[in-house]
Amino acid sequence: MPALASQARQPSQSAMSPPALDANSFRALATLVKAHTGIVLSDHKRDLVQGRLARRLRALSLPDYAAYCALLASSSGEQELGPMINAMTTNVTRFFREPYHFEILRQTVLPQARATGSRFRLWSAGCSTGEEPYSIAMTLVDTIPDPRWDARILATDIDSDVLARARAGHYDEEGAQTIPAPLRRRFVAAASGGGIEIRPEIRARLAFKQLNLMADWPMQGPLDVIFCRNVVIYFDKETQARTFTRFAQLLRPGGWLFLGHSETLHGVGQGFSQEGRTAYRKRA
Ligand SMILES: C[S@@+](CC[C@H](N)C(=O)[O-])C[C@H]1O[C@@H](n2cnc3c(N)ncnc32)[C@H](O)[C@@H]1O
Repeated sequence: MPALASQARQPSQSAMSPPALDANSFRALATLVKAHTGIVLSDHKRDLVQGRLARRLRALSLPDYAAYCALLASSSGEQELGPMINAMTTNVTRFFREPYHFEILRQTVLPQARATGSRFRLWSAGCSTGEEPYSIAMTLVDTIPDPRWDARILATDIDSDVLARARAGHYDEEGAQTIPAPLRRRFVAAASGGGIEIRPEIRARLAFKQLNLMADWPMQGPLDVIFCRNVVIYFDKETQARTFTRFAQLLRPGGWLFLGHSETLHGVGQGFSQEGRTAYRKRA
């Protein structure tokens, strides 16, 4: 009896440990993720995938990953594709990340663009929760304050959850600390419910849209600048090369491409000259 009583107090096995991601399910998920997003999930990411999808299994009351894969492959699987992709993306970002790019914008790109054109179009591809495009917009408005200048920023991501947060434009105080103080004073306000919010003057420069880099792109171009930082690092070389070719087609001659600190065009991108740390210009 005492043994039974103590067993009854134990949580069940399934409550203690979430199901393990078996090798077949991992391979099926990795294939699906690569086909839809370009993101490569190599074998060492198995624990990461298991951890990220455990919440989806619980939300759907599924017993294991084989059942989750069966759902994705079924006629109602389409609905789960979005939440699954949202769980698979890595969204780390911050305001004024890789600050040297904002210096190039301030000192070279924006003054030249203002001097030579009445229209300026910049794309932040893989914008995550919005810190990157808001940093760009603050730099733009601070450098060229003329509200009549037709300068606009398109910010896109595949992940609908991060886009909702980007559109809201609300952040915690701590996150705002990497915004240079003079810009923070001008372009950031205390939010009524706590934290901070981006002022309307900055938000007015931006449009957020969901866009998968692996799919068709609706923009016509030509674009003046593309920021695609810390995104292609998750793609294989072939997908990177295809993406860079498409960027080159969309940029005007002399247009700028900014990549993340560990990304390069070397061996995968043609028709660009390097102008600074992971900063490139399309050759005329
Ligand atoms: C690490 S964040 C980078 C955010 C920002 N660019 C930065 O450097 O701080 C990578 C972003 O790329 C997005 N992403 C990954 N694959 C994508 C795809 N195929 N199409 C569009 N966005 C994608 C992810 O959802 C994620 O928000």
